[in-house]
Amino acid sequence: MNSNYSAAIVLRGWHPAIGRAEAIEMFPESKLERTESRRILLAHGESDWNRANLMSGCECVLVGGGFEKWESIEKLIDSITPIKKDNIAVECWRHEGKIPVSTREIEKHIGGIFYDAGSTFDLENPEHRFGVVLDNSAGYVAWGWMVGQGPGKHGWSNMRANKRPFFRPVSLEPRLARAAVNIDAGIGEGYVIDPMCGTGGILIESGLTKRPTFGLDFDPVMVEGCLENIKWAEVDVRVERGDATHFSFPENVCAVVVDPPYGRNSPSDEKLIEDVLVNILRHSINCKLVIILPVSPGRENLDEQIKTDLKIKGFDIQAAYGIPVHKSLGRLMVVATPQRIHQ
Ligand SMILES: C[S@@+](CC[C@H](N)C(=O)[O-])C[C@H]1O[C@@H](n2cnc3c(N)ncnc32)[C@H](O)[C@@H]1O
Repeated sequence: MNSNYSAAIVLRGWHPAIGRAEAIEMFPESKLERTESRRILLAHGESDWNRANLMSGCECVLVGGGFEKWESIEKLIDSITPIKKDNIAVECWRHEGKIPVSTREIEKHIGGIFYDAGSTFDLENPEHRFGVVLDNSAGYVAWGWMVGQGPGKHGWSNMRANKRPFFRPVSLEPRLARAAVNIDAGIGEGYVIDPMCGTGGILIESGLTKRPTFGLDFDPVMVEGCLENIKWAEVDVRVERGDATHFSFPENVCAVVVDPPYGRNSPSDEKLIEDVLVNILRHSINCKLVIILPVSPGRENLDEQIKTDLKIKGFDIQAAYGIPVHKSLGRLMVVATPQRIHQ
């Protein structure tokens, strides 16, 4: 990396603000710096970049490369130091519209300088991928060795909730559930729980990231369907039937991720959430919370946190994000930590 960055973190376009929050929690050993490019962060200090593979909002991490204002292919070639590696491939892709240059052309030229340095190529099944991102949001280019799947390859479209054996309209979309789990649990140890797990959208994403995971729902139909989904997803997750306001949850909970039943203005739902959280805090005083609520559209912001008046008894709100769903529905994702009074 030029200057003193250890890596560039390249975010997906779905919701860069949530992607950023996810990166902060998944790479806590590094200090992350925003850049003018809305989807590129620079990392100072090393982390385990392989965690990019678990993330919803990260295309990849680029290591051993650089980040600079786009000028020309010649300038880019000049800035890259090619090294000899076997079985490499060069991948170039765009963010946010067009810097007027062909990605093929860039791949060809960069492939050429690596060839001259003695590298060999395997375009079908490369051992090392050298990525180049043309980011037109601010006219920058980032490059480096890719860790993570790269653009459009995470298969989130294949992971739609309606492809599971048990689907209900309440099922949370996988990329949001995965981001919520990562933001909440980060690299912490302990259980991830969803006390109102429905069809298991949150549990599956937590299970796929190999975290100890527990789910509860009081509706027997949901519990049965959720177990069917868990089996289908081949994840190791415990699910039980019970009332979350009284259930004895595991004691070592690090993250509560929940998408509760919530009418947009229903005080009875607020009371239910409050009772569930008070019950959980009785056993696990240090658990962090991510709660996802349906809201009227209009507060979405893909780039920044939003303000919220929401109060959650026993918790301090740390951040809130507005997520577009469709014309008549948005979602609010709120991140909160337990108040000190409980410790
Ligand atoms: C919005 S749904 C959750 C959807 C879920 N995130 C998914 O992906 O399918 C809310 C769930 O809360 C459950 N629920 C409501 N009150 C409950 C309680 N007191 N204890 C446990 N579960 C409860 C409902 O049965 C429902 O399945």
